[in-house]
Amino acid sequence: MSRHIAVLPCDGAGKEVVPEAIKVLRAAGADFEFEEFDVNADAYLRTGVAIPDSIWSELEKADAILFGAVGDPRVPDPEYLAGVLLRLRFELDLYVNLRPAKLYDDRLSPLRREDRRSVDLLVVRENTEGLYVGMGGRFKKGTEHEVAIQEDLNTYTGVTRILEYAFEVARREVVMVDKSNAMTHAGGLWQARWKEVAEANPKLKTRHLFVDAAAMQLVKDPSQFDVIVTGNLFGDILSDLTAELIGGMGIAPSGNINPRSGRGLFEPVHGTAPDIAGRGLVNPIGAILSASMMVRHLGHADMSEAIEGAVESAIRAGECTRDLGGNLSTGECGDAVAKRLRD
Ligand code: NAI
Ligand code: MG
Repeated sequence: MSRHIAVLPCDGAGKEVVPEAIKVLRAAGADFEFEEFDVNADAYLRTGVAIPDSIWSELEKADAILFGAVGDPRVPDPEYLAGVLLRLRFELDLYVNLRPAKLYDDRLSPLRREDRRSVDLLVVRENTEGLYVGMGGRFKKGTEHEVAIQEDLNTYTGVTRILEYAFEVARREVVMVDKSNAMTHAGGLWQARWKEVAEANPKLKTRHLFVDAAAMQLVKDPSQFDVIVTGNLFGDILSDLTAELIGGMGIAPSGNINPRSGRGLFEPVHGTAPDIAGRGLVNPIGAILSASMMVRHLGHADMSEAIEGAVESAIRAGECTRDLGGNLSTGECGDAVAKRLRD
């Protein structure tokens, strides 16, 4: 049965990389029906609505969502970003944010020591709670007496389900990262749930690190890590660090999933890259690897491996964009990957 994929390229670099991901999926022989929706800054400026109801109901029905990036210098108000990506994550309850970091070629690594370059880890980020829920407010705004409060929301259910998911996907070890020494209320809940979930999963190794130590260890020797599970803010920050370890923003993929409902939204980690968008300079690999995560989520592990293999081969051959040391355009890089799948 043909799967129905909702496509949201959105703005800037997103519009350039998503067509390349679709090109690669077609070359890999995916039997998908792609339907693109007009969710972007132009539509928002025209209508004042981030996602209209008619489109929302289509997104809810889709088997998966392939997403580019959202953001536009003409729309500085946070309501647009919140109305698109945060709404999708929160209202579709996509509580797991998967951010894998795998080094496809040694030359992309900033690490000097060869024995520390075998990076193949996964950041499992809590995606629906924490500091990103928008609770809080500004009192005496704009005066020198202003007080700003941003609440960190953590629930028993939310913390438990993300910890449990980390154990489901780990191969050898789960490292839980928090800042429970300084943020004692939220940290206390994470620590209590961690102890219980870890005890229920005795087959895997477990370790706890404070977030500052985790950042240090990730730079010192990222090859030690398998799965890192953490909250929304720390996961966002640490996964930018891991993206840089494997060659930068252009290459890092992500999936936002609800393993219970089966819903999923797949997007590159990068944003709309306004500094390079529109000139064929944007790297499509992050979007292509996100599409590969999507097909794995939909049950096609073989196709996902084939796409990843084609990406690795293109990168090693130097057939990539400038940020990875090549000289291909966005479209040519997509072609280089697609060609390897057709052969
Ligand atoms: P960004 O990820 O767009 O860019 C950061 C840096 O990485 C820039 O120097 C850019 O040129 C480079 N870069 C990004 N993607 C690349 C690619 N595919 N190939 C090569 N280089 C690439 O983040 P920034 O500049 O902080 O934000 C720009 C806009 O994107 C803002 O409007 C922001 O709100 C939005 N944004 C959206 C996200 C999303 O939709 N998930 C995530 C992050 C930012
Ligand atoms: Mg980020």
